[in-house]
Amino acid sequence: MRYAALLALLAVARASDPSPVDNIRNTFYDLEDKLWKNVTNPEWSSSGIGGDVELTKAFVRFDERIESVPRPPRPPFDTWLWLKLVEKSQIIDGYYKNFVEFAKRQAVPGSVPAPVREWLDLAEGVLMDPKASVAQAVRKIHDLLEHGDMFRAMLQEEHPDLCELQLSPHQLIYDMYNTISLTEIKGYAMMQFSWMLLRIYGKGNFTQEASLTRQRYGERTSRTAAAARAALAMARRDLYRCDPPQHKLGETYEEVTRLLQGYIENEVDMNSDNTCRENCGHYTLAKHHTCFKEQFCAQQAACKGRIIDCNYIDSDMWVCRAAKTSNRRYEWIEYENGRTLGKPGSCPRGTTKVDSWWRWLFWHCSYCMCLCDEPGPDSHRYFSLWDATSDVKNNKVVTGLRLVKHGRVFHLQISEGTLGERGSVTPGSWVPLQKFDITDAGLRDGVDYHTMSFEERAIDLDELDSPTGYILTGVRFRMIGAHLHFEIRSTPFNYTTGRLSPARSQWMSNDNTEGAEVPRSRLELVRPDIPTRSATALPVDSKHDQYIEFTHSDFEADAAQSTVPFIDIQPLEPIKGSALISGAGIIHRGTHGSGGFIAAKLFTYNYSRHIKAESPPAFVEADVEKDLVLPASNF
Ligand SMILES: *[C@@H]1O[C@H](CO)[C@@H](O)[C@H](O)[C@H]1NC(C)=O
Ligand SMILES: *[C@@H]1O[C@H](CO)[C@@H](O)[C@H](O)[C@H]1NC(C)=O
Ligand SMILES: *[C@@H]1O[C@H](CO)[C@@H](O)[C@H](O)[C@H]1NC(C)=O
Ligand SMILES: *[C@@H]1O[C@H](CO)[C@@H](O)[C@H](O)[C@H]1NC(C)=O
Repeated sequence: MRYAALLALLAVARASDPSPVDNIRNTFYDLEDKLWKNVTNPEWSSSGIGGDVELTKAFVRFDERIESVPRPPRPPFDTWLWLKLVEKSQIIDGYYKNFVEFAKRQAVPGSVPAPVREWLDLAEGVLMDPKASVAQAVRKIHDLLEHGDMFRAMLQEEHPDLCELQLSPHQLIYDMYNTISLTEIKGYAMMQFSWMLLRIYGKGNFTQEASLTRQRYGERTSRTAAAARAALAMARRDLYRCDPPQHKLGETYEEVTRLLQGYIENEVDMNSDNTCRENCGHYTLAKHHTCFKEQFCAQQAACKGRIIDCNYIDSDMWVCRAAKTSNRRYEWIEYENGRTLGKPGSCPRGTTKVDSWWRWLFWHCSYCMCLCDEPGPDSHRYFSLWDATSDVKNNKVVTGLRLVKHGRVFHLQISEGTLGERGSVTPGSWVPLQKFDITDAGLRDGVDYHTMSFEERAIDLDELDSPTGYILTGVRFRMIGAHLHFEIRSTPFNYTTGRLSPARSQWMSNDNTEGAEVPRSRLELVRPDIPTRSATALPVDSKHDQYIEFTHSDFEADAAQSTVPFIDIQPLEPIKGSALISGAGIIHRGTHGSGGFIAAKLFTYNYSRHIKAESPPAFVEADVEKDLVLPASNF
């Protein structure tokens, strides 16, 4: 019983929450009813008030309402269908411009009324111009929409540019619907004003024509809205950045550095007795003890952390060492048996010959290929666990998201904008980072930041959306077990007024773990080279409810010198910060043979339940279908 009552309440809330253009259309129907009452009222028309001037005043006031609707960005297409629609829209927009200018001149107090002929020309042009009337253009737009099934077509096509435009297909369909509907409303309003003018000037009765116009328009718009709503319900709402034309460190991407790095160490230096009694495979977890006889160990910086997973490859090798300023230790390594790690080529600083040796003929002091896990000033492996939230007290919502690195700490950064009525957002700016270094007083590992390590280097890949009626107001990382885990904050809002209810904000996440009954699945990197070397664009290869581990790049491809995935730091801010955003996620873009990128994604708000064009009630009790006066095709 209570449930039924709640449902009824929801149904009411739904019907009263139309999108801005649907709302404007309803407003116009009301205005039209009132105006027709005046126009058909003999007392009003004989009372000596200039009916035409009254009408123009009402029209100018309505135009102000139309102008207050945020201009949707023009969808970036060049299909035949869309160009046809644009062409028809231009006819309407052209008339509308004239109409508004004319009406504004007439509405100025004390202005000399234009000759009747001029009014009539305008009205007749709108309704009956045989070449290009507004009536015809409005009808044509509906035909194009229906026969081309424009909105559905949008779902089927692949839109590679959406990534660059930072538009979701959902947002695109919504913008299209708004653009078209607003044009139609202008056309329809002009038609009704024209009938009223003709009536005022005694050119006929026209209530039936006007009624028919309204009925036809009402039917067509409700069909258009239904088609748009159906397409919106299915359209993808996620968006993310694709590969930039050129990868630039610090601009389009950043790297976790020296987490697990390929490292050459001789067995003799990895035990406290300086012996060579074991083999490389023995050293699964070791550390650097000494530099025996100042051999190769004296020429490179020792691994000051843990040495992990050593392997013997070959006895002797040439090593091309990297520059001191590089995050790499080696550019490439070539073993005497011909095996190479990394991409051998020129070596600006000259190669170093590194040879293992025998001790007492039966102990081989081998150079091993290991991994070095070395936290410290040279390793950028820290992630902020602080919240990044919009200023909900001042009604601000998240409008953009990016990953950034400051010093050696990675952060989530948001941009915020002010939420307004019916889903409008006034763009604001990027919320300044709460910068810190891990050495700052009072900061705690695991509370304020997370340190990646051999054991704790997983990041959860989740795509999270707010429940209906909620909007995105924050993001953060949190630790769940050994995983860096992504969360969103959702805040309820009133669509009609745009007011947030900050007190009812909640953090949401997908708390599934690897150990659960249906475990979170692992995204494997296959022989990952560094992603900036990829010759092709990297597609999104992660799904919701996965995780990935930061690891070293492939030995063969890169001598395991880099940490992958890299971090995509391109800002994601659809329509310059004026899009309504309901969700966010952390994804991976990559493919076999590439370490790929960790990147952010956003979900634009689901507008479908606000799209509603209801057929207006007939406003004159005339049986329009029976007494058609003009050919129906004109409306
Ligand atoms: C209808 O006419 C009355 C009387 O002149 C006026 O007060 C009213 O504003 C008019 N209605 C509209 C919608 O313009
Ligand atoms: C003319 O319009 C009035 C409304 O003002 C309506 O009542 C009447 O039926 C119409 N007359 C004809 C002939 O259609
Ligand atoms: C959007 O909302 C509608 C109903 O409000 C729902 O049916 C649809 O599945 C949602 N679409 C998406 C893509 O989330
Ligand atoms: C939104 O706010 C309006 C105006 O205050 C109110 O009438 C309406 O009931 C609210 N809607 C919801 C769903 O709370």
